[in-house]
Amino acid sequence: MPENIDRLEGFIRDTTNAYIDRFVDRGHADLIADLLWDVPCLIALEFLGVPDEDVDTVRRLATSMTEFLWGQPSQEDELRAADGLGKFWAMGGRIVEKLKELENPPGWIGHTIKLQREHPDLFPDSYLQTNVMGGTMAAHETTTNATANALVTLLRNRRQWEAICRDPSLIPAVVEECLRHSGSVVAWRRKAKTDVEVGGTTIPEGANVLVVIASANYDEQVFDTPESFDPERVNNEEHISFGYGPHMCLGNHLARLEMRVFLEELTRRLPGMRLEDQEFRYLPNTSFRGPEELRINWDPEPGAAQGSANA
Ligand code: HEM
Repeated sequence: MPENIDRLEGFIRDTTNAYIDRFVDRGHADLIADLLWDVPCLIALEFLGVPDEDVDTVRRLATSMTEFLWGQPSQEDELRAADGLGKFWAMGGRIVEKLKELENPPGWIGHTIKLQREHPDLFPDSYLQTNVMGGTMAAHETTTNATANALVTLLRNRRQWEAICRDPSLIPAVVEECLRHSGSVVAWRRKAKTDVEVGGTTIPEGANVLVVIASANYDEQVFDTPESFDPERVNNEEHISFGYGPHMCLGNHLARLEMRVFLEELTRRLPGMRLEDQEFRYLPNTSFRGPEELRINWDPEPGAAQGSANA
């Protein structure tokens, strides 16, 4: 819930600034490797209640889950990804056991452990273990990619980038339009519970459906001139980048908060950043979309790292 998530804002801002400190004097960066690879994962671990887990291991194992379930690995890579998925499952079990030893376990997993103590039949260990895996996987790669896509969009629309540098109060609307215009989960799965007609085509009961979210977000019946990037459009929150219905993204408030803080700190500390000339590479994948590298440069100011304290 927002009131629990908002408590993470200080941690998100401090962690973001600690990472920016490392490269702000350099004049160039790959924002994936230097910032967005680690920070959403560190936030996810804090949210789950296991901040001491090794971020590199967690990221590597979580990425094998996305590669195995949504990617197009070669046969050899598939074996490696399956091995990583198994290790990820084992890690989830170890984390649950560790947290269960605490009287007052922290974070979201701690919350579900407390529910398990009240209703053991409803929340078996396998449910908690799945939540560690699902929560870690769902929380960070999605946000890494969404922020990277947002930065590419904004730096290509320089006027919008400069507008949020001048007036950070515009950032929440910009985040919403970035999620609509260039979100990170481009397609998601459903199963038809009954025969249903969509756009003149009958989808039979039981059919597996790949819903192309990115296409729905460009539906000209909902959004005027959908291809244009326009943070001032009145209905930009009508996108379905976080899904729809009872299973709508549990982390949408956290993701929005993270994206807002990333943009607030990057516009404050690196307003002159520009995209390097580069061809973006995307992993072959049905659902998760974001560049593997995001190279930027700027004219470094002497002592810029001193500016890390929160404004
Ligand atoms: C910009 C970042 C994110 C995007 C684009 C995104 C997108 C999505 C989408 C499309 C779904 C499927 C929803 C549906 O079936 O209707 C989903 C589910 C989910 N997301 Fe996210 N997500 C993001 C960040 C996060 C974060 C930060 C967390 C963790 C706190 C999270 C946790 C989850 C969980 C647990 C589910 C499964 C919910 C359920 O099945 O009931 N997500 N997300």
